[in-house]
Amino acid sequence: MHAVGIVAAAGSGLRLGAELPKALVPLGGRPLVCWAVESLRAGGVEQVVVAVPAPQQAAFIAVLPDDVHVVIGGDTRTASVRAALGAAREHADTVLVHDAARPLTPPDVVARVLAALAGGARAVVPVLPVVDTTVVVDGDGVVTADVPRAPLRRVQTPQGFDRATLVAAYAHAHGTAAEFTDDASVVRAAGIPVHTVAGDERAAKVTVAHDLRMAELQTERPR
Ligand code: CTP
Ligand code: MG
Repeated sequence: MHAVGIVAAAGSGLRLGAELPKALVPLGGRPLVCWAVESLRAGGVEQVVVAVPAPQQAAFIAVLPDDVHVVIGGDTRTASVRAALGAAREHADTVLVHDAARPLTPPDVVARVLAALAGGARAVVPVLPVVDTTVVVDGDGVVTADVPRAPLRRVQTPQGFDRATLVAAYAHAHGTAAEFTDDASVVRAAGIPVHTVAGDERAAKVTVAHDLRMAELQTERPR
C-alpha cells in the first residue's frame, strides 16, 4: 500500500484573526502546517502535497521541507483538496486528507486510518463521541428537541480513502451545488460507505484564539 498525504492549508483563518494565514501561524515556534506534515509522516505517510493560498506560496515553500509538493489551493476547502488531488502521484493507491489546522494529531491516529485502509475499507474517518447534552433550537434560540447523543460522533482528520474512490467521488461532486466541509461527505454523497476509527482529543482543530492557546499548553508538556 502506498499512501500520499494531502494537507489542506489554503484557508485564511478568519476566525483565528491572526495577521498570517492560519497554517503559517506559529505553535511552539513552528508554523501549524509544519506540525501537520510531520504528524502524517510520523504516522507512516511518505509523500505529502500541501494546498496553500496563492499570495503566500513563497512563504509556505520557505518553511516546508524541500520534498513536500506545494500546490495553489482554491476558494473553498473542497477546491483546495481537489487541486492537491490532481497533483497526487498516480502510483499512490491510498490518500489521507488532513487539515493544517490540526497540528497536534498523534501519529497513532494516522496509523489507525492507514490500518483500516489496509484492511479493505475504501473510506475511513477518525471520530470522537459527543459528550455534551445536545439539543435542537428554533430561530429564537428556544430548545425544541433533545438529540440522543449515543449515536453521534465528531469527525476529525486525517481522513483516508482508496485513491480511485476519492478521485471518482470528487468528479461526481463537481458541478453539484452541494457544499462539503470534509472529504468523507464528498465520498458519502457518491454512495460509498465511510468507516470510523478512534480519533484523539489532541487532534482538535485550531479554529479560534482559545484553541491556539490550548495547543500551546500541550506543546509545553511532554506529549
Ligand atoms: N482550507 C483550505 N482551503 C480553503 C479553506 C480552508 O485548504 N479555501 C483548509 C484550512 O487551511 C484548514 C482546513 O481547511 O487547514 C480547515 O478549515 P478551517 O478550519 O475552516 O480553516 P480556515 O478556512 O482557514 O479558517 P476560517 O474558516 O476561520 O477562515
Ligand atoms: Mg474555513
